[in-house]
Amino acid sequence: MNKLFVFGRTASGDTFTDREKETKKLVSNFKYGVNTFIVSPRRWGKTSLVKNAKEKAESAKLRIVYVDVQRCRSREEFCERFASAVLTQTAGKMDEWLENARTFLSRFSFGVNASPDPMGEMSIKLELSPRDRSMDDLLQLPESIAKKKGIQVVVCIDEFQQIGNYTDSLQFQIELRSIWQHQEHVSYCLFGSRKHMMESLFDDTSKPFYKFGDIIYLQRIPTEYWVKYIVGKFKQEGKDISRKQSEWIVAQVDGNSSYVQQLSWYVFQRTDKKVNEASLHEAFTELVDQCSDFFEAKTEGLTAYQMNYLRAVADGINSGLSAGKTIQRYNLGSSANVATIKKLLLEKDLILEEDKKIFLTDPIMAPWLRRI
Ligand SMILES: Nc1ncnc2c1ncn2[C@@H]1O[C@H](COP(=O)(O)OP(=O)(O)O)[C@@H](O)[C@H]1O
Ligand SMILES: [Mg+2]
Repeated sequence: MNKLFVFGRTASGDTFTDREKETKKLVSNFKYGVNTFIVSPRRWGKTSLVKNAKEKAESAKLRIVYVDVQRCRSREEFCERFASAVLTQTAGKMDEWLENARTFLSRFSFGVNASPDPMGEMSIKLELSPRDRSMDDLLQLPESIAKKKGIQVVVCIDEFQQIGNYTDSLQFQIELRSIWQHQEHVSYCLFGSRKHMMESLFDDTSKPFYKFGDIIYLQRIPTEYWVKYIVGKFKQEGKDISRKQSEWIVAQVDGNSSYVQQLSWYVFQRTDKKVNEASLHEAFTELVDQCSDFFEAKTEGLTAYQMNYLRAVADGINSGLSAGKTIQRYNLGSSANVATIKKLLLEKDLILEEDKKIFLTDPIMAPWLRRI
């Protein structure tokens, strides 16, 4: 299918733009076995970047495994998913990975889950005995397979910040690091969205992942790339959007990659030949509409004070939220209360802090708040 604008799925091929420097860096980290952390807010393009670099770097001698641990709620689930991805993605055929499973995971009994979709992923279901909590051989799997096949393996773990939620998280992090750092044929690319959670894994000497690898803070795709991208896509379909209008789209969503694509799509759908101002604004309204359910769910159960805090940030008050004037104007309670609110909203990933300034995590939340 010929895709024009993509959102809600990985950008690739001609829906993928920029990220040249980052791709080059990642490809060389993959090739030369350098561990990497990638951090950015949600939907800026981490998964797309990693998958794109994987495609470029992969060869017969270098296998790149991709695993998403978003849904893994415990170390057991994490290890099972990890092992399953490593087994299936390092082998060409099912026979081969089953044999590897028998050789390297002999202590487990396991079943195979085949997806009904012929192109879908296979996975294994390990029977873990509750008494035996050691996951070492699962975590050693990429090294065991790499040695056997005489190859190098990179394991890319998406939404890695999840491990911060596990009950025995710190202990688990220590185990992961101590096993992984001795592997000679395997390196890791660990990435995730929630900056303060990702950073809490490696931000000081007491953390198990301190100095584990290279750190990439993924930035926004520069406006000039977006303009070229948007103008090009419209032109390709015989429609016309100006540079200025494209810049407006990018600015309206604060350069969030996913929203740039989504808003461009809504504008495109409203345009016969030439983009006009009315359709720009209608498209933006549609975008806010589309996000409303999500925001309602995210803010459900927040107190009036907490909502007021979000409103203050939406109005551009990024610092000094505990100043008397701000507290009064937005009705935020006491200054002690403001500190508690901030902590909670950070945990809920509704706000983020950068250089001591507070921002809404989602750029569409401000227009939504103004609307309700
Ligand atoms: N390099 C890119 N070029 C064009 N669009 C991109 C790019 N990276 C991300 N996007 C857009 O952003 C969306 C989210 O990308 P994704 O890689 O899933 O982000 P993340 O993993 O950081 O949440 C994609 O669906 C696409 O719309
Ligand atoms: Mg992602």
